[in-house]
Amino acid sequence: MKERIEAVKSNIAGIKISSSAELESYRIEFLGSKGKMKELFGELKNVPNEEKKEIGQLLNDLRQFAQSKYDEVKEQLESSDASIEKLDLSRPEEYIALGARHPLSLVRSEIIEIFSRIGYNVSEGPEIEDDWHNFSALNFPPEHPARDMQDTFFIQKGNNPKEEFALRTHTSSVQVRVMENQKPPIRTISPGRVYRNEAISARAHCFFHQVEGLYIDKDVSFADLKQTLLYFAKEMFGEKAKIRLRPSYFPFTEPSAEVDVSCTICNSKGCNVCKYTGWLEILGCGMVDPNVLEASGIDSKAYSGFAFGMGVERITQLKYRVNDLRLYSENDVRFLGQFKSAF
Ligand code: PHE
Repeated sequence: MKERIEAVKSNIAGIKISSSAELESYRIEFLGSKGKMKELFGELKNVPNEEKKEIGQLLNDLRQFAQSKYDEVKEQLESSDASIEKLDLSRPEEYIALGARHPLSLVRSEIIEIFSRIGYNVSEGPEIEDDWHNFSALNFPPEHPARDMQDTFFIQKGNNPKEEFALRTHTSSVQVRVMENQKPPIRTISPGRVYRNEAISARAHCFFHQVEGLYIDKDVSFADLKQTLLYFAKEMFGEKAKIRLRPSYFPFTEPSAEVDVSCTICNSKGCNVCKYTGWLEILGCGMVDPNVLEASGIDSKAYSGFAFGMGVERITQLKYRVNDLRLYSENDVRFLGQFKSAF
């Protein structure tokens, strides 16, 4: 009996197991209900009484030896290649639905990117503004008809009609805050949402997005403004883009201009988007009025500057041919999904 136990032990020690199938046949051969261990334990009854204790002990050791080999190999297989065996390479690929960035976010990022390359930083401010930052500091006197240019939503604070706030009608308000808090030279753009009380249609909405720019330093001229805007137009619409400036009026700039870019859709030949003029209006601009500099504590004799402001919806419309403003805020995935590959 002792020899048989020894033989089984060296048999077990010599077995090499390298897969879970081999491990299973090992288990059946030695530890299974009809296996070697069962057989040897069954023979214990034929052993003479005086040897029973010793043989029983040897058998127990042997069973433990067989079991620990099984446990060890099992653990090894599970932690390594066993996982590869479980990988089902015939399984069809799973479809992962990727989101898309909103077209306005794409274009806003692009505008920021273009201006950051020529040294502009980004400034932000509150959407609920006081009269000073949205109007008065920008040279809109009280009761001035120019306030009507920007149909304003007002908010009353508590029950006091005197404590009135406005939803900002432009992000020029942020520029006032920058001028109040920083010393020139200032080179900043202010992206953000603005509100105007307009009837919603394909061409107008009660909220939209702007990026306004401000540059203040010694000896800033109108030529600097023009060159900056030409650079922007070429970066945004391509090397062939041209700009033209038309005289205009804003309370906070003097002189003021509106800027058109050559129609990228028909190459200035005339189409229904540019209304057969070859030009598309993209922004307003001008030299900052000395009154505005002074209102924010900047010496208008030492410094001059220019400002410009554009609508992100408008630039997006021209870049992606979006012909209805309402699409931007309806969250229709058929619209939003079209911008998946645009980064
Ligand atoms: N704030 C103007 C608007 O909202 C745009 C503008 C900005 C015009 C700066 C001139 C200079 O319409």
